[in-house]
Amino acid sequence: MPYDMLTTQRFLDDVVASFSDRFAIDQGPPGGLLPYAELMERVAGCRAVLPTSIDRIDEQVFANTPSLKVVANVGVGYNHIDVPAATRRGIWVTNTPGVLTDSVADMAMALLLGTLRRVSDASEHVRHGHWHDNRQDTFWGADPRNMTLGIFGFGAIGQAVARRARPFGFRIIYYRRNRLAPELERELDATFVPFETLIETADVLSLHVPLTDETRGRLGRAELARMRRGSFIINTARGGVIDEPALIDALTDGQVAGVGLDVTATEPDVPQALREHPRALIMPHIASATTGTRGGMMRTALENAAAVLDGKRPPNPVNEPEV
Ligand code: DGY
Repeated sequence: MPYDMLTTQRFLDDVVASFSDRFAIDQGPPGGLLPYAELMERVAGCRAVLPTSIDRIDEQVFANTPSLKVVANVGVGYNHIDVPAATRRGIWVTNTPGVLTDSVADMAMALLLGTLRRVSDASEHVRHGHWHDNRQDTFWGADPRNMTLGIFGFGAIGQAVARRARPFGFRIIYYRRNRLAPELERELDATFVPFETLIETADVLSLHVPLTDETRGRLGRAELARMRRGSFIINTARGGVIDEPALIDALTDGQVAGVGLDVTATEPDVPQALREHPRALIMPHIASATTGTRGGMMRTALENAAAVLDGKRPPNPVNEPEV
């Protein structure tokens, strides 16, 4: 039977149930990881594909799938999709903004506090059976009160991080392309600064920008060198925003005192020097991984796909197809 849609991971049953009376939905394995060749084979004849950030949706997928009308991404970042190629071929690309804002901001805070308080190396110490005494001089961390938190990318998630961080005593500065309205800046108690000031002033720098040609490697060797010595970096955006070899060097020589990363440049392969660094707290790209949020992302992606197949404008487009 020809399918209308292909999801590259197994969706929650109750989410699929609301759509399966109207659409034939083929599903990938639990958790995803549908190899590219299999994706190509199974997407043939479908009108919608619902990928995640680990799937490559490129020109070749479009060329081999003339039936395709929409790529309904299950996630907010879409750097794994060739959006210009989709646009040229008249294919909608959509994402799932909003539903994951709180979960990602929560994870940014978990990484932030975990990094300042050395949760990673202290926990490893116990896990590996090294805790034999009650010394008072080990694993001293940093105190968030009166630190400056610099937020690079101040959209919904960056703002949600600011709201969470403020009660801990952080002073908030931010940089984004378009400055916020003064009322919103006042409400968030956040000060706009140029990018250079952001990196030179922050004690903790938290990244919340999409990965684009403009942001790829934006935190490079030169920028890392300009940061305050002993500052911290939190990344729940995309690994490619940081020059990772430069980051490893900065961590090793103490220029950067600690990193909390949900994402890395070549995930799931994390360089050994980073993986094993005692001051690196690293998660396997799970910032949005709560049952409620992942279910919400699947539902939103299906709503976007269904709208297009029903001949309507999808609720969350990221492009305007040309034909
Ligand atoms: C997103 O929504 O972009 C998250 O990183 C999950 O891929």
